[in-house]
Amino acid sequence: MVVLAVILVALACAVSAQTTSKIVLTNDDGWAVAQIRAQNDALKSAGYNVVLSCPAINKSGTGSSTTNATTLTSPCEFNTCPTGSPPTGFNASDTQLNYVNAFPVDAARFGIQTLAPKFFGSKPDFVVSGPNVGNNLGSTVLISGTVGAASEAALEGIPSAAFSAATGGQVSYTTLTTSPAAADSRAALIYSALTVRFLDVLLASPAPILPTGISLNVNYPSTTNCASASAFKFVLTRINSNSGATDVQTCGTTHLATESSVITKAGCFATVSVFNARTKSDVDAATQAAVLTKLSSILSCSN
Ligand SMILES: *[C@@H]1O[C@H](CO)[C@@H](O)[C@H](O)[C@H]1NC(C)=O
Ligand SMILES: *[C@@H]1O[C@H](CO)[C@@H](O)[C@H](O)[C@H]1NC(C)=O
Ligand SMILES: *[C@@H]1O[C@H](CO)[C@@H](O)[C@H](O)[C@H]1NC(C)=O
Repeated sequence: MVVLAVILVALACAVSAQTTSKIVLTNDDGWAVAQIRAQNDALKSAGYNVVLSCPAINKSGTGSSTTNATTLTSPCEFNTCPTGSPPTGFNASDTQLNYVNAFPVDAARFGIQTLAPKFFGSKPDFVVSGPNVGNNLGSTVLISGTVGAASEAALEGIPSAAFSAATGGQVSYTTLTTSPAAADSRAALIYSALTVRFLDVLLASPAPILPTGISLNVNYPSTTNCASASAFKFVLTRINSNSGATDVQTCGTTHLATESSVITKAGCFATVSVFNARTKSDVDAATQAAVLTKLSSILSCSN
């Protein structure tokens, strides 16, 4: 009997360790662009429980702006909701697809504070912001809504990462099915698979998933010479150059290359920079080291 109880406890632990990760998915390009829907589909196919909470319209470049969501005074992007629609809304046949007529920060907050309790019965385990249409490198992180939304999550205590991608346009999610061979569609599928590869490693690492108050800025290079998710290598980088800073020791140096310099190198390098969610600037070597340890199985060197 005691043996059976021990086995049952062991089984229960094994099952709980595999509990599906609960993800809030957000962006700044709007809830109906191809890239965010491809990411939603890829995460679901990989077994994640996902709630999408994104701006009703394109809110690129709005950083950490915030407001109260308002009634739509024009249609949602690509006519996905009519003028006069409520401040927040959802797809009636897939209620985990939600829009918020406000900024990316507000969409992330609504996902964390309202939608996660509703659909998950708890806080989310992680917030994925993006992939954004277009890279967010260097000082651009300061105005990026993608980075703004990821920062908001980290400041609310939810680990997060911002993902931004070089190839693709702000096209409707319907192009994924109407034009699957189009460059935008193919890029959306490659990047979404790459994000899953990254999250599978990060979310399987021991708790806490990330140190408190920090987030990750991940950038994907062009798909032109990198035609599948497996072609990419992740490299630890820094956002801003600072020759006076001592970074974590890796790839034979204590000076990480900037994300801007690595992403343009031949070799399909996706950059991963660790940043302070409040200042959106680089963190100290010890904090970089914590992330390096978690991601070591997928990190490469670009030199
Ligand atoms: C989205 O907003 C950004 C920033 O205002 C702008 O540069 C971009 O052209 C907009 N996209 C579309 C499809 O209108
Ligand atoms: C949002 O609404 C609340 C409650 O009505 C109000 O206190 C707050 O000032 C509003 N915020 C903004 C940015 O308008
Ligand atoms: C809503 O979900 C249905 C079923 O998945 C889909 O066919 C439709 O295109 C979606 N519409 C929007 C605006 O998300």
